Amino acid sequence: MRKIWVGTGWKMNKVLAEAEAYALTLREFVELESPKAEVFIVPPFTVLRKVCDLLKTAPVKVGAQNMHWEERGAHTGEISPLMVKDCGAHLVELGHSERRAQFGETDFTVNKKVLAALRHGLSPLVCVGETASEKAFGVAKESVVRQVKISLRNVPENRIGDLMLAYEPVWAIGESGTPAEPEYANSIQGFIREAISELYDDKIAQQVSLLYGGSVNTENASSFVKQAEIDGLFVGRAAWNVDGFIQLIQRVEKGP
Ligand code: PGA
Repeated sequence: MRKIWVGTGWKMNKVLAEAEAYALTLREFVELESPKAEVFIVPPFTVLRKVCDLLKTAPVKVGAQNMHWEERGAHTGEISPLMVKDCGAHLVELGHSERRAQFGETDFTVNKKVLAALRHGLSPLVCVGETASEKAFGVAKESVVRQVKISLRNVPENRIGDLMLAYEPVWAIGESGTPAEPEYANSIQGFIREAISELYDDKIAQQVSLLYGGSVNTENASSFVKQAEIDGLFVGRAAWNVDGFIQLIQRVEKGP
């Protein structure tokens, strides 16, 4: 049985006071309710250390939104795996579609970052998803499988369990996005698992947690997690307010 994950990426939101208030309310909730789901949050770098400190003893994992693959050097504006680790983070989000579209992230750089994260004891959360035109041209499967195969290249099979993937169709993300049909997301996630099985084997493919992201909210959350291939949710807007995040966790806890 794979775990169920519920996480949120804050993107470019929240200054320190807002981040602290969020983390403290979330801490109180998880300590009181002990949710069965694995809860994680991915704040911006500027508040990462503080949020990690506040949640140190709580059952909440904390991640960074990006990372360079080198440990140090002349890379102005970048953050290294050593720095992310030093903040106390457990995981690192890699290859989000906004980073691909706005900052030139490619499957090849994602692959370098995945390997660097694993070397430094961070769990990579790799985001993949087809664009609207790839979907319209009938190559959603091909696009997503390609992203997965390149991102995972040279990941040793005994480390696959440390990695998570989030299927986030680009057309489903953000203000202008529409959520995927749960059955559609499930079928693409099935292709992702098949691709991992081709790279390794079926047993290993079954270990990987595959999350869905893109316009998830309290209304549609349970329809996604009841799908066989969906092991959790990666949420943006609906969880930027801590009450919204808590409601989502409660929705998932209740089950389908
Ligand atoms: P959204 O973002 O929930 O606001 O659509 C999802 C994501 O980008 O991970």
